[in-house]
This record gives sequence, C-alpha cells and structure tokens, in this order.
Amino acid sequence: MVERESWRDRIEAAPHGVLFVPPVIGLPPPPRRAKVGDQEFVRFMDYILSPVDTDAVDLNMLSTINSLRLRLVASGFAGSTNGIIKRAFSDFVSHGSHQTVVDWGCGFDPVNTRMGDPRRIGVDLDPAVVATQRSAGHECYLPADPALLQYAGGVDAILAAFVFHFRIGTSHIRMMCNLLREDSGVIVANVYRRSEESRSRLAESIRAEGLALRTAIDRSNLCRQHEYWMASKSRSGAELDILLERLADAVDRAVSDQRLT
Ligand SMILES: C[S@@+](CC[C@H](N)C(=O)[O-])C[C@H]1O[C@@H](n2cnc3c(N)ncnc32)[C@H](O)[C@@H]1O
Repeated sequence: MVERESWRDRIEAAPHGVLFVPPVIGLPPPPRRAKVGDQEFVRFMDYILSPVDTDAVDLNMLSTINSLRLRLVASGFAGSTNGIIKRAFSDFVSHGSHQTVVDWGCGFDPVNTRMGDPRRIGVDLDPAVVATQRSAGHECYLPADPALLQYAGGVDAILAAFVFHFRIGTSHIRMMCNLLREDSGVIVANVYRRSEESRSRLAESIRAEGLALRTAIDRSNLCRQHEYWMASKSRSGAELDILLERLADAVDRAVSDQRLT
C-alpha cells in the first residue's frame, strides 16, 4: 500500500497523454499495468506510463516517450540491456562482410556510433531524433524520405534495436525491402512487448512483402518474452537460422563483456 502510494505521488503528466513517474532509488517502479483516474496505462521502460500498448502509440506519443527515455538513460535508470543488444548487433555486423548498414529506429544513441568500418545510415520516425543525429554529423533520415532510395538494393543489414515493439507500418517494411541487397541483405531485430497476436500480425506483414522471416527465442532471456527476428529477400530459412545462431553467440559475448565491466 505504501509502495503504491509512493509511485502515484510522483506522477508527472507528460504531453500527449503519457505519464512519467520519476525514478527514486530504493522505491519500486509502478506495476506493469495500472489504472490512473479511470484510465488504464501500460508501463514502458519502468517509469513511463503509456495510455496504449507500444504497438499503437502515435508519432506524438512516440516523441514524448523518446524524450522521457533520454532522461532515464541520462540518469542511469535505463540502458544496460539496451547496451548489450546494440553491442551484439554491432558485433554481428562486424563479423559479417557488411559494408552498408542501416540503423532503423536509431534513436538518440544509435548502434552506428559503436560500429567500425561499414557505412552507417540512421533512420528514425521521430523528427527530433533525425535533427539531433544530423546536427551531430550523422547521416539520418525519416523512414519515408525519398533520399533513402539512393541506397536501394545496396544495404547489407538493417538493424532494428528495440524498435519492433512499436508500430511498423507496411510502408516502412516496403522501404526496408527496397533498401536490402537482393542476394544477401538481412533485417535483424529484437522483439518484445508485443502480444502473440501482434507478433503474428507483424510477421505476416513482413512475409507479405516477400521476405523470408525466422525468429528465435532469446536464450539469455534479457527481457520478458524476448525474441530475435531475421528477415531477408533471398536467404533461405535454414540460412537465417544459422545467422540467428551467430547473433545468439554475439549476445552471449556481449553479456559476458558486460559482466566483466
Ligand atoms: C526504444 S528507442 C531505441 C533507439 C535505439 N535503437 C536504441 O536501441 O537505443 C526506439 C526508436 O525507434 C523509433 N521508431 C519507432 N517506430 C519506428 C518506425 N516505425 N520506424 C522508424 N523508427 C521508429 C523511435 O522514434 C525511437 O527513436
């Protein structure tokens, strides 16, 4: 009872119906689903309460969530699992012969700052992210920007770290498809926070664009109901399974690196 009151006392209204519960060391976060007033909220990143599931947030809510997430990462209350996944994705790319990599949903702290040689292109739905990346000197585009098509058919890997729990529209999947190298390009994503039904719908919309898709449960169990997805235009399911194994090895390495640091 005392705990419930303590997080409720800290609720801050953020724009577009999102709520923020500033973290306090020693006090637990709100529950996964909570009623505030007469409205149901879903907890996101422990301290953000969204009025809808993450696969239904609109662009305004997404921008609000991104700026709150930035606060949480800056204050050290979020980001360690995220760092493991980005390190693993980066490792996966650098162990392949990838030359052009798109970081889809790059956010304010993209995978590409951790990668070595490949050409790195950021994409994000949030204009504030794109502006921030550009002003830091990184190449970054909105998903519908026609300028992205200069890379059509030339992208070896599209990495989506902590993005596929949001709404991924058909036009975005189509753009990814256009970008991928025909013979070998792969989409690499992690998926969590979606219901089984929502995962099936997303998988169906990926396959509807002609991509082969394979999924694997995260054997390190870094998040609840956490999976890795790998999709490609021309690679067989068996090849994608091998790549998923390689990715799982990269995750194992990133987890043990994290333990050592
Ligand atoms: C949780 S953040 C992850 C950011 C970064 N990949 C990381 O791991 O630190 C999700 C990012 O994906 C972006 N995003 C959400 N849906 C998207 C979509 N359909 N296409 C592109 N970006 C999207 C959000 O704006 C946000 O920057």
